[in-house]
Amino acid sequence: MALSSKITGVGSFVPERVVTNHDLEKMMNTSDEWIQQRTGIVERRWVDANTSTSDLALKASIEAIENAGIDKNDLDMIIFATLSPDHDFPGAGCFLQDKLGVPGIPTLDIRQQCTGFLYAMSIADKFIKSGSNKNILVIGAEIHSKGLDRSPEGRNVGVLFGDGAGAIVMSATDVKDGKADSHIINCHLHCDGSYAKELWLPGPGTGFNSENRCDQKMLDEGLHFPQMNGKVVFVNAVKKMSQSLINLCKESEVKFEDIDLFLFHQANLRINSKLAEMMGIPEEKVFNTIQKYGNTTAATIPLGMHDAVKEGKLKPGMLVASAAFGSGFTWASSLYRF
Ligand code: ACO
Repeated sequence: MALSSKITGVGSFVPERVVTNHDLEKMMNTSDEWIQQRTGIVERRWVDANTSTSDLALKASIEAIENAGIDKNDLDMIIFATLSPDHDFPGAGCFLQDKLGVPGIPTLDIRQQCTGFLYAMSIADKFIKSGSNKNILVIGAEIHSKGLDRSPEGRNVGVLFGDGAGAIVMSATDVKDGKADSHIINCHLHCDGSYAKELWLPGPGTGFNSENRCDQKMLDEGLHFPQMNGKVVFVNAVKKMSQSLINLCKESEVKFEDIDLFLFHQANLRINSKLAEMMGIPEEKVFNTIQKYGNTTAATIPLGMHDAVKEGKLKPGMLVASAAFGSGFTWASSLYRF
């Protein structure tokens, strides 16, 4: 028997407000046809003004805790992946912990963007395997809409992102049969910081030659909006996610054909089709949600996991592979028996 971790509860939450590509046509110099052809996105969710990232996370977390069949007081850590925290500091995990009403337990914020949830899952797995923790709440939540350039010039990035949250509870488990029991099998995490400025949010920040981390010049130049070199991101996303997953499966002695479901990050439907094609994965084994949510960054994989459960496509005992790629560049892959 080996001490391991497994996913015991899943929850998600998306804001009610649906923003279609046609809605964006009225704000930005774009078209439904362009967005669908280039990205696969049809609509996304945006929050109202009075909602924060930890509010979305709270709703997803309550559902995940209920689904795990534990009491919130059984949690012994919160790991929160987000690039859009409520405030610069303290971390979003602190706000969530207070709203959830579980004072005293440690919280960690993970800042690895689209890869954040897989980093968070891997960290939770290590804490549980060390024997120090039994039930960790792992969340990915984002509010992109408040940070996008929604003017006619904002189309390059503005059409891609949506708001949402997904949460899982990871709990300690004794694995008797490594090939059959539910547990996290293996995770690989990567980063190449030399690409940091290919996809980033420059301001506010201390990386400017300025005495203030936020000034009028920064706002006038639009440096408080995300900047992206889409083509470089696209090419690297396909290359790095496939490499990582191939190496992970090899190391774990798992064959692609034995994997029941692929839950990839959702940045572009064409990225995932290319991945599936390169690796010989049948399209029906890839679960995509980008059409209805856009790219929800750290929330994407747990949101997809929850939808896949609701739709009956993800069932206990299934072998699942996830891969993600995002700003940093960071990328990761993970294999788990659900
Ligand atoms: N609507 C209409 N036209 C547009 C839009 C838009 N929303 N955006 C760009 N265009 C125009 C461009 O200006 C360009 O016009 P031009 O030829 O007159 O110059 C034309 O469409 C083609 O633009 P490209 O950038 O070459 O389009 P491409 O086919 O590369 O698609 C896209 C762009 C969808 C962004 C693609 O590159 C992509 O998906 N990249 C990966 C994005 C990604 O993975 N991001 C991850 C972010 S996640 C994170 O970690 C935060």
